[in-house]
Amino acid sequence: MSEKYIEAKTVDADVAPYLDIADSVAKIHKKNGRADTKKPKYFVQTFGCQQNEADSERLAGLCTAMGYEKVTTPDEADLILVNTCAVREHAEKKALSIIGQYKHIKDRNPSLIIGVGGCMVTQEARANKLKMSYPYVSFTFDTGAIHTLPSLVHNALTGGARKFILSDEWKINEGLPLTRESNHMAWLSIMYGCNNFCSYCIVPYVRGRERSRRAEDIIEEAKQLIAGGAKDITLLGQNVNSYSGGDGCDIAELMHKICAIDGDFRLRFMTSHPKDASDRLIEAMATEEKVVKHFHLPIQSGSDRILKEMNRKYDTARYLEKIAKLKEAVPDVSITSDIIVGFPGETEEDFLGTLDILEKVRYDMIFSFIYSPRNGTPAARMENQVPHEVSTERFERMLALQNKISDERNRRFEGRTLRVLAEGVSKNDPSMLTCRGDCVRPIHVKADPSLIGSFVDVKVRKVETFCLEGEILG
Ligand code: SAH
Ligand code: SF4
Ligand code: F3S
Repeated sequence: MSEKYIEAKTVDADVAPYLDIADSVAKIHKKNGRADTKKPKYFVQTFGCQQNEADSERLAGLCTAMGYEKVTTPDEADLILVNTCAVREHAEKKALSIIGQYKHIKDRNPSLIIGVGGCMVTQEARANKLKMSYPYVSFTFDTGAIHTLPSLVHNALTGGARKFILSDEWKINEGLPLTRESNHMAWLSIMYGCNNFCSYCIVPYVRGRERSRRAEDIIEEAKQLIAGGAKDITLLGQNVNSYSGGDGCDIAELMHKICAIDGDFRLRFMTSHPKDASDRLIEAMATEEKVVKHFHLPIQSGSDRILKEMNRKYDTARYLEKIAKLKEAVPDVSITSDIIVGFPGETEEDFLGTLDILEKVRYDMIFSFIYSPRNGTPAARMENQVPHEVSTERFERMLALQNKISDERNRRFEGRTLRVLAEGVSKNDPSMLTCRGDCVRPIHVKADPSLIGSFVDVKVRKVETFCLEGEILG
C-alpha cells in the first residue's frame, strides 16, 4: 500500500455543496413527475460491521434528501447502493455475488442506478475490478467520500460517464442527514479510522487515520436522539476507547457527559482496543447506571508471540490485568472478545494459549474468525501460512469450549429479574419479542409488539447457550 494511506487529515469535509446537489436531484425527480405520487425508490444493502451500518444510515439520509423513498427489496428500486466490507475474503465474495445478481434487475430496468461504496471498493484493485467486470455498476465511492453521493447520483441520472472515486480523504462528514433504521436503538459514531495497523487487518487502509468528532457535536446528537425516543445508544468507533475529543475529553468523560443528559436510556460502546482500556473507562462503567455492563475487549490471540506478530501492542499478562480490574470494579460484567485462529505461524502451543485465555477470562461470548489473508497487509506476506484444515479444526475446538463456557456463564441469569429493552419481534418466532439488557444474549418473551421500544422487567425462566427465555413481570 502506498504512503498516501498513512497520511492523516482530520478536518471536516465541506458537505454543503453536496447537499445542494441533493436538492437538484430531488428537483429532477419532481420535474420528471416522480416526486409526489410515485417517488423514486432506493435500496441500501449493508455488509460488515456497525460502522458500515451507521454509514448506511447516512447514505439513506442522502437518498431521502434526493427525493427517494426506501424500499425493502432491490427489485423495486431505482437506486441500489451496496455498502461493502473487506475484513475477510468471505465478506468480499458475498458482496461481489450480490452485485452480480443485481445485473438481472438492471436488465429489466435499464434506468436503475447501481452504486457501490464501503471498505471493499476503497481498495484500488477492487474499484478497478468493478469498473472492468461490472459494466452495469454506475459508480463506486470510498469510505471517505460518502458525502459525495449526491453528485455521483446526479451524474448517473443525467447520463454522465461512470465514476470510480478513490479520494483517500479521511475527513469528518459533520452535518449529513441521517435516516435511522430504528427509533429506539441508535448508532452514534464518535470517531472514525484506525492507527493501529494490526498486521492482519485491512481496516486502517480502508478507513484512514483516527479522527474524533468534537464532544459538543456528539452530545448535541445524543440529546436529539434521546428527545426523539432513543433508548439504547451505542458509541461507535474502530477503537472507540481511543477517542480524543479535544481539551482532554476522553471516552470516559464523554460517557459521563452523555449519561448526565436527562432521560431513560442506556449507553454502550464498541469496539475497544485493550491498549486504551483505561481505569477511567472501567470506572465510568462501574459508576454510571446508564452504562450497560458489557465490555467488548478483543484479545485476538492468547499467545504472546502471536500477539507480537499481530502488532497488538499488549501481552496476555497486561490484558488479564485489565480484565481482573474490570471484574473487580463491575462484578457482574459481561465480557466478549474477537479471536482469530490460524494466524501465520500459529502452532498448536500458541493455540492452546488461546484456549487457556478462554478458560481464564470466561467470556460470555466470542466472535471467532479463521484468519483470512488480506492483500497489502504484512501478515499476508508472511511465509508460514497455516493450512486451512488445521485452522478449521482449531476453530471447531475453540467453539466447543466457548459454547460450554457461554452456557455456564448464561446460567447466572436463571431466575433473575432483568430490566431489558424490547428491541423487536423475534426473527424465529413472530409471537415473541427479542429483548436485551446487560446480558449479551437475547432474551425472548411472549409479549405484545406495542412494547417494542420500552424497557420491561423480565424474569428469566430458561437459559440456553445462545439465548434466554423469560416472562414479563407486571
Ligand atoms: N477495531 C476492532 C475490530 C476490527 S475488525 C478491533 O480492533 O478489535 C473485527 C474483527 O475482525 C477483528 O477484531 C478481528 O478479530 C477480525 N479480523 C480482522 N482482520 C481479519 C483477518 N484478516 N482475518 C480474520 N479475521 C480478521
Ligand atoms: Fe484492525 Fe487492529 Fe485497527 Fe482493530 S485495531 S481495526 S483489528 S488494525
Ligand atoms: Fe468490514 Fe470495513 Fe467494518 S472492512 S468490518 S465494514 S470497517
